[in-house]
Amino acid sequence: MKVAIIGTGYVGLPTGIGLAELGNTVVCVDKIAEKVESLSAGRATIYEDGMEELFQKHLKSGALSFTLDMSKAVSGADVVMLAVGTPPHPVTKEADLKYIYAAAEELAAYLDGYTVVATKSTVPVGTGDEVEAIIRKVNPSADFDVVSLPEFLREGFAVHDFFHPDRIVIGADSDKARQVLLKLYAPFEGKTEFLLVNRKSSETIKYASNAFLAMKIHYINEMADFCEKAGADIREVARGMGLDSRIGRKFLNPGPGYGGSCFPKDTNAMAQMGRKYGAHLNLIETTIAKNDERKVNMGKRVIAALNGSRDGRIAIWGLAFKGGTDDCRESPAMEILNEILKHSENVSVYDPKAMENARKLLGNKVVYAPDAYEACRGADVLVILTEWEDFKAADLNRVRSMMKTHKILDLRNMLDAETVKAAGFDYSCIGMK
Ligand code: UGA
Repeated sequence: MKVAIIGTGYVGLPTGIGLAELGNTVVCVDKIAEKVESLSAGRATIYEDGMEELFQKHLKSGALSFTLDMSKAVSGADVVMLAVGTPPHPVTKEADLKYIYAAAEELAAYLDGYTVVATKSTVPVGTGDEVEAIIRKVNPSADFDVVSLPEFLREGFAVHDFFHPDRIVIGADSDKARQVLLKLYAPFEGKTEFLLVNRKSSETIKYASNAFLAMKIHYINEMADFCEKAGADIREVARGMGLDSRIGRKFLNPGPGYGGSCFPKDTNAMAQMGRKYGAHLNLIETTIAKNDERKVNMGKRVIAALNGSRDGRIAIWGLAFKGGTDDCRESPAMEILNEILKHSENVSVYDPKAMENARKLLGNKVVYAPDAYEACRGADVLVILTEWEDFKAADLNRVRSMMKTHKILDLRNMLDAETVKAAGFDYSCIGMK
């Protein structure tokens, strides 16, 4: 099948590469000339584990191509996927749909033959109706259906998740559209659950899922705070809870608060939708407020670890919003650093992948270390903000030799407390005394 993908970000690019691997011809279109140029020349614009090899393979074979030209991508396509950004509106925090609507307006003119227009971007309930109306207005004779096709890829694991989906949700009000998408995703038949639902349910599934996961993280973070006061150990508590198959083990890792380009944006948009429909989503509202508060509190905790010294040197390991990605958007690390920088100017940072992106946000307020050990030179406290495997494997003796005061504050609970203490560190983490 011929598939056009509009938008080559964290959703569009891995999806395009995955669909090319499934045997389709995929043309990705983007508005940013440098992006298209770079991708066409074989230089990936984002980092995703396992992406490079497939990207090069399909670029060479011609199954995957990139263009600025909407008509080239959309003409003759069986499926057109909208994978453009839906950033939060700066004031209302609603999902801003201007890119979706602009793309719908632009693509409409080039539809020829029956086409399924599938929305991959996370969009509020009812957006499908709007997209349909826009296309109809621009091109009244077009033969098309608009479908909600939410994506559940995690950043950093997008390629893995594309090939191992927990479910494929197809939100279509037309059987013809359903059949086209079932054919596109036929390689997953028997391997995963297909959920054929109406368009509005599909749009809601995406938000309800992300908001639930965010609430689960908020819950375990709150439990961690409780454990610290009560003398329990959150690792044992989370394990004990997770073994109940109704609760499940995943997303029970306490941390500095959730971040990224999805959970903060989607919880806010969902809460806003609740207000709009007069169906207040109190759990989600609380989750948002407490998660914001948590990041500030974590910054204060770092400052407290310096015992009031304004000259104390702070080493930071991890800047990305989670391990496995170079993305710093809404990273808890950035917000914690903003809090830290109100009290200290002696901060050196290191992240295996996110240095470049962090530099765009932090400028020259911090020192960028060339490696994890150099970040620790002369430090009074080492703070872990992102869970990278490299940090788990670090040589603790070498870390110790670089630091002035041997203190580690592990806000991701990723190191083994006993091993770190045995190596001569004063160690503290989340959710235990
Ligand atoms: C999330 C969802 O997991 C994907 O299913 C969804 O497709 C995606 O949003 C999206 O809407 O596009 P992602 O933002 O890549 O994926 O990141 P997650 O792995 O879900 O992590 C989000 C945040 O929660 C990170 O800051 C992470 O560190 C934090 N987290 C996660 C915890 O603090 N504890 C956990 O146990 C799990």
